[in-house]
Amino acid sequence: MSFPCMNANCVTQLRRRSASFTTRRPRPGMAGHVHLIGSGPGDPELLTLRALRLLQEADVVVYDRLVSDEIMALIPATTRQIDVGKMPKRHKLPQDGINQLLVDLALQGLNVARLKGGDPLIFGRGSEEAEVLRAAGIGCSYVPGITAAQGMASSTGVPLTHRGLATGVRYVTGHRARDRSLDLDWASLASEQTTLVVYMGAANIAEISDRLIAAGLPGDLPAMAVAAATTPREARIVSTLAALPAEIAEAAPEAPVLFVIGHVVSLYRGAEDGLAAAAHAGAMQVAANA
Ligand SMILES: C[S@@+](CC[C@H](N)C(=O)[O-])C[C@H]1O[C@@H](n2cnc3c(N)ncnc32)[C@H](O)[C@@H]1O
Repeated sequence: MSFPCMNANCVTQLRRRSASFTTRRPRPGMAGHVHLIGSGPGDPELLTLRALRLLQEADVVVYDRLVSDEIMALIPATTRQIDVGKMPKRHKLPQDGINQLLVDLALQGLNVARLKGGDPLIFGRGSEEAEVLRAAGIGCSYVPGITAAQGMASSTGVPLTHRGLATGVRYVTGHRARDRSLDLDWASLASEQTTLVVYMGAANIAEISDRLIAAGLPGDLPAMAVAAATTPREARIVSTLAALPAEIAEAAPEAPVLFVIGHVVSLYRGAEDGLAAAAHAGAMQVAANA
């Protein structure tokens, strides 16, 4: 792996410094260690140096479906790789099974890299896995990743906050557990001063839009959907809060999809914008009504 923006001296120093942080070598008869690692939103160049080093040192990598093929390609082919990825409605391995797998691997004395999309602590269940590992007496540590919202902001050029447009940002889940309604505080979310980023909301965007409008947000508030942000498959649908659900239903973008609702979306300058296009020439704008 080369780091084009750094000289060899810098890279050596970084490796020395980061090596002192977290590495635990497997020792016979002793529990191993689990690193809960964020892979970022998909672009392999958004992986942290620490994540890359730990992935290359791991005895085994346990990974999710959101981890991109390009990132998986950075793991030595000889390293054991276990796919516990979850497909909607077709869970490959339930969360309890993943927890037990991590415990079992660590009890074998292995150095385990648990690799997740984005950041492990933002809708990533990283802290749930850490709780189980700690309860089993196994050492674990977190390695942050760039969350999808931040990746989207850079790849589209739409900021999360902007003076005069948004004084804050909120990340919420749009996922609804089976037979339950969306458990969100609609009144507090209906603020035009705050950018709302909805993760896991594709199946429920119509209800989300209706509930936000009923709680006071204007239907013509700019809103966008970004699919597969930071990857060559990135697609954007730029619209309004009221119109977005119908446009999503028609365009049926490929998962994963993130929704951004708020005045910051008015700063979107299109796929040809220099800021966004430089790194993501392949990004496709599906519609632009905002
Ligand atoms: C289980 S959450 C995981 C979030 C992840 N831990 C993070 O920090 O980005 C999965 C949701 O994240 C969002 N997501 C993750 N990666 C994405 C990407 N590259 N583009 C758009 N949305 C993404 C989608 O809303 C998806 O349904």
